[in-house]
Amino acid sequence: MIEYRNLKIALLGAGSVGSRVAQLLLEHGDELASRVGAGLELVGIAVRDVDAERDVSLPKELFTTDAESLILSADIVIELMGGIEPARSYILEALNSGADVVTGNKALLALHGTELFAAAEQVGAQLYYEAAAGGAIPIIRPLRDSLAGDRVKRILGIVNGTTNFILDRMDVDGDTLEGALATATALGYAEADPTADIEGYDAAQKAAILARLAFHSEVPVGAVHREGITSVTAEQVERARRAGYVVKLLAICERVVDPVTGEEGISARVHPALVSRLHPLAAVHGAKNAVFVEAEAAGDLMFYGAGAGGLETASAVLGDLVSAARRHVAGGPGVGESFTAYLPVVDIGKVQTRYQITLEVVDATGVLATIAGIFSDHDVSVETLEQSSATGRTPASSATAATGAAHTGAAHTGVAAHGEQASDHITATLVIVTHRASEQALAATVASLAGNTAVARVTSVMRVEGA
Ligand code: HSE
Repeated sequence: MIEYRNLKIALLGAGSVGSRVAQLLLEHGDELASRVGAGLELVGIAVRDVDAERDVSLPKELFTTDAESLILSADIVIELMGGIEPARSYILEALNSGADVVTGNKALLALHGTELFAAAEQVGAQLYYEAAAGGAIPIIRPLRDSLAGDRVKRILGIVNGTTNFILDRMDVDGDTLEGALATATALGYAEADPTADIEGYDAAQKAAILARLAFHSEVPVGAVHREGITSVTAEQVERARRAGYVVKLLAICERVVDPVTGEEGISARVHPALVSRLHPLAAVHGAKNAVFVEAEAAGDLMFYGAGAGGLETASAVLGDLVSAARRHVAGGPGVGESFTAYLPVVDIGKVQTRYQITLEVVDATGVLATIAGIFSDHDVSVETLEQSSATGRTPASSATAATGAAHTGAAHTGVAAHGEQASDHITATLVIVTHRASEQALAATVASLAGNTAVARVTSVMRVEGA
């Protein structure tokens, strides 16, 4: 039997991930010790209530409410309590005492990452956070280490399982958003308050973390453009399906170049988008996550797996723990984060992508030419146009708001039909897919379309990504 020196591990939090981390550490401690070359001794678990019900049964004597003393006794601190405070203060205390820290706290990293990484660097400690984006999926280490010698061009991530489950149900079963959300809640994917997931806040935090790593630059979470899935309709999903697309909530982190100045920047955004059914991301079903990385030298890579779950996420945490323990055994300072590219985050208006626009138009001579002229006037090039005709009834004074591409605000919402009186006539549905155009140009195009008498209604505007 090999005798190892022991590294003392403190765990903060015993929720669904924390309790699994403790369980696996206790069960597999010897095996992990042989991988590390040191024992990993779980010296305590700090919780608010030592008597609370846990997902797994753990030795009672490990629990304490005295987090501060526990932190000061540890070589490595694992923070899985979540929230901003006291997690932030505890991590700073741990780093300042010379401990390495493992965390899965995406909200904290997205908001206070700069401060925490600086604190780690100052004392030569290291902060590990593989569990903060994509749950069990290894994506932080690939971006931080494996691709550190490459140039990432773009990341397209399905990084929120709840919304992927909902959109997948809408696509596969023809469910409504409300129906699919109710199922997600019943199955335990969605929280009682699903706002963070369905409004894209969770995905935006992950986008900030991934963009910062991929482009070696500060990306404040407030600079991530965010739209959730609440405006996605069953009709949009069905129309997408018929056109060979699937609707996904994407976290997009992209290196962009200003066409006028030639300066490089970053676009970080979260919004629903049409993805071709031939794209690997279209095959990501249910609550699974995937991150598709396009790099200059490596080409396309995809990382796929469970984005949540106590046991699955515990795998990522324990991987970080082993890395931190190996570093302790080897000695020397931690390796800092390289946020040295200083690329600015650009406004969504400057981002270029493709769009699918669905219009109800009056089916009369010259209408198509008028529509084509509006696109051309705004320098937006049409890639495909499909028309189907139907006898319609133009609603009086207002039409259903167009959804998708919501940042374009007035241009895409509350689009009014023309004329005060409802009238029977022949209408046509036009589904137009554009070549790449800026959001600004697209918004101006949609505003002009909505103001033209040939257009009864702008039914939908969706971005098309991944081509
Ligand atoms: N609520 C998240 C999701 C998991 O649905 O993917 C935690 O990030």
